[in-house]
Amino acid sequence: MAPITIAVVGATGSQGGAVVTELLKYPERYRVRGLTRDVNKPAAQLLSAKGVEVVSADLSGGSSALVSAFAGASIIFGLTDFWASRSSTVEVQQGKSLVDAAAATSTLTHFVWSALPDPVALSNGKYLNVHHWKGKSEVTEYINETYPALWAKTTTILFPNYFENCLTNPASYLPKNVSGTYVHSFLHSPTTVLPNVAIADTGKLVRAVIEDGQQYYTKTIAFYAQSLSEAEKLKTLGEVLNVPTKYNQISAAEFQQGLVKNCPMTEENALDFTEQLLIFETFGNVYARDEFIQAADIPGISLTTWKEFVQGHDLLGKINHPN
Ligand SMILES: NC(=O)c1ccc[n+]([C@@H]2O[C@H](COP(=O)([O-])OP(=O)(O)OC[C@H]3O[C@@H](n4cnc5c(N)ncnc54)[C@H](OP(=O)(O)O)[C@@H]3O)[C@@H](O)[C@H]2O)c1
Repeated sequence: MAPITIAVVGATGSQGGAVVTELLKYPERYRVRGLTRDVNKPAAQLLSAKGVEVVSADLSGGSSALVSAFAGASIIFGLTDFWASRSSTVEVQQGKSLVDAAAATSTLTHFVWSALPDPVALSNGKYLNVHHWKGKSEVTEYINETYPALWAKTTTILFPNYFENCLTNPASYLPKNVSGTYVHSFLHSPTTVLPNVAIADTGKLVRAVIEDGQQYYTKTIAFYAQSLSEAEKLKTLGEVLNVPTKYNQISAAEFQQGLVKNCPMTEENALDFTEQLLIFETFGNVYARDEFIQAADIPGISLTTWKEFVQGHDLLGKINHPN
C-alpha cells in the first residue's frame, strides 16, 4: 500500500516534533508533512533535510490557508500553542480555523487533536481562570457540536506536565543554595500528584492511536506515564544524581508572584498557571478519571519513566553551567 500523508501542526515544536520523529521511522507507511510559520527557520530546515515536506502555514491566517496545507492528508495532528500569544481568544480562534480546515479535508480519515480538559467542569466550577485549558476544551466542544462527521473520526489527547519542563530553565527549577543543596520550591503538598510524561514519547502514542484508528475515534486519551508528586520527583532526582535535595512547599500566592517576577508572566497568566496546579491539589489526579482512556494502558506503548528521564539528561550540567 502507498504511504499515507500525515500533516503535523507544530512540527518544529515539542509535541509535533516528537510525532514527526516517530513517523519518519516508517517511510513505507507515512509521508510526513510539517507545518510551520517560517519554512526558513533552522528547525524547519532540519525537518526538510530529514525528508519532511515542510509547508508554510499560520493558524492565525484563517482556515483557507490551512485547507491547502492539509490537502491530500489522511491524518492531521493538530495543536494550538497558547503560550505563543498568551491569549485564550487567539487560541480559540486558531483552534476553530484548524478544525474548519480539517473538516474541509475530504481525504481525512483521522483527526488527532491535542487538548486539555475543561477546568470548570473538572473542578465543579471552582477554578474559573485556567484559560489555557478552557480554550482548548472549547475547541474540542466546537468539533463535537459543529462537525459531527469530523468528531466521528477525532481522537482527543489530553497532555500532562512534561518531564522536559525542568530543562526550560533548569537553574530556576532547581536552584542550589549556599550549602550546596538543590531546592525545589513548589505550591503542592508533598503528596499531591501530577500526571507526567516525557513529551518526546508523544510519537509513540500518536502512532499507536492512528494505527488502531477506529478504536479511538471520539475517545479522549489521558497521556501520562506516571502520576508523581514534585517532592517524589525531587527525591528520585537526588538519588539518581547523588546530590542533596530539599522540597520547599510555598503558598499558592507566593508561587503565583514568583511567576510574575521571574518568568515573567502577566498577573492573569500567572493566575491561570497557578489554578491549573490547584486543580490537582484540590481534586487529585483528575487525568485518572474513568471517562478517559489511559495512555499507559494502551498495549505496546512503553513510556519513559522519570528515573529514566533524569538518567538520560544532564540536568546538573545545565543548572551549574547554563550556557
Ligand atoms: N509544557 C507543558 O507541560 C504542557 C502541558 C500540556 C499542554 N501543553 C500545551 O502544549 C502547547 C504547546 O505545544 P508544544 O509544547 O509542542 O510547543 P512548542 O514546543 O513551544 O512549539 C510550539 C509549536 O507551535 C507552532 N505554532 C505556534 N504558533 C503557531 C501559529 N500561529 N501557526 C502555526 N504554528 C504555530 C510552532 O511552529 P513555528 O514556530 O515553526 O511556526 C511550534 O512548532 C501549548 O498550547 C500548551 O498549553 C503544554
